[in-house]
Amino acid sequence: MIIVSHRGPVSFTREPDGTFSSRRGAGGVVSALSPLIEGRDDIVWIAAAIGDDDRAAVAADAAGVAGFALHLVVPDSTDHRLHYDVVSNATLWFLFHGLFDLPRRPRFDQHFRSSWTAYRTVNQVFADAICSTAGEGDVVLVQDLQFALVPAMVRAARPDLRLAHFTHTPFCPADDIRILPDDVAKELLTSMASAPAGFHTERWAANYRACVEEILGVTPPTFVSTFGPNPAALAATAASPQALEAGARLDAEIGDRHLVFRTDRIELSKNIARGFLAFDRLLDLHPQWRERVVFAAFVYPSREGLAEYLAYRQEIEQTAQRVNERWATDDWKPVWLDTHDDFARSVAGLQRADVLLVNPLRDGLNLVAKEGPLLSTRDVVVCLSRGAGAFDELGPFVVEVHPYDIEQTADALHRALTMDPGERASRAADLRRLAGARPASEWLDEQVAQAASAT
Ligand code: G6P
Repeated sequence: MIIVSHRGPVSFTREPDGTFSSRRGAGGVVSALSPLIEGRDDIVWIAAAIGDDDRAAVAADAAGVAGFALHLVVPDSTDHRLHYDVVSNATLWFLFHGLFDLPRRPRFDQHFRSSWTAYRTVNQVFADAICSTAGEGDVVLVQDLQFALVPAMVRAARPDLRLAHFTHTPFCPADDIRILPDDVAKELLTSMASAPAGFHTERWAANYRACVEEILGVTPPTFVSTFGPNPAALAATAASPQALEAGARLDAEIGDRHLVFRTDRIELSKNIARGFLAFDRLLDLHPQWRERVVFAAFVYPSREGLAEYLAYRQEIEQTAQRVNERWATDDWKPVWLDTHDDFARSVAGLQRADVLLVNPLRDGLNLVAKEGPLLSTRDVVVCLSRGAGAFDELGPFVVEVHPYDIEQTADALHRALTMDPGERASRAADLRRLAGARPASEWLDEQVAQAASAT
């Protein structure tokens, strides 16, 4: 079996002494796949060398990762930049998450056209890697929007292979697919529709079917399947010396105050700035929380090749600073913003949180919403945006967040902070049960079944 995802289990950093260190790859796809694939020598994981240091690690033959049959593909770096930054991140990601500032963007000019050609080229490089790795009749599971053209390419070259494509993001409504140039929308959807297309919730699957019906006039095969975190992998991280040390630091820092917590990639769709504004409003409306609650946001850099993401990082930092300037006292800093990528510390934060804020504009699933309840030692109350795919599963037991409404979000935080212990415990128990109800192994099996059933 072959799994193809753009980001592999780790990313590499070249150290001053010329050796390479590795850290866990970002995002939900890697969190779900890594524990499943680790130790399985019957699964080849094909992923991209992403940054310069990844490429250097491949060149130095230092990109092996213990426990994985990992094949890192190195596309031409200009093609790859256009594939990743311009098409995957600045176009398809924006389209599927509804992030375009439409009066200004997108602009489908010549630069976009060369980028689309590069996207096609990089997809072909991966399709070739799949075809030269796969045995007769193998199952191939292609992940996400970076590889939407791979299904058609693989089908054309190797009709014997059994293929499914899974999208971890949302999918846009039918009206929005018309934003893409006509031929691009057609090429994208024709390829996706050539294999069963999986989504985390029926909401995104229905949007996708409506888009294909709108553009191609046919109803494509879809399936809905989702996953939760791997409890054993989470427990192992929680027991690691790094997490224990981070937990002790958190305890020392927070003391007996309440902790509102979030952890995310620094990502426009995660809606981090509005979270701080809602916290500011909470302190405004409810003086009882002044000096009594800390909002810790452990967020980490992402996609810094895009100006929008760099600007967003600054905006987040400035917003947090303004809240602190407004409310801080000698021994209380209301917002604790940290932008270092440290998974063990995020796990410690999820264990200690009293309230977990997950307020994305739109999100394919959002694994943090499930990691929180599984790790919590304090019956965490989850304030969850209705825009997250996970809301469809966890909705009855979370405090609902309207992601654009700051007043409502402030209210949701207040409700969560004042919830009585009995209700907290009962909701937390339901959330724990639901968060653990869909092991990623079943999700993987479902993709295999869908791939095998496709003609
Ligand atoms: C989400 C996407 C993945 C992506 C991850 C991290 O989980 O669904 O495809 O890999 O975010 O984003 P990045 O651009 O850093 O790989």
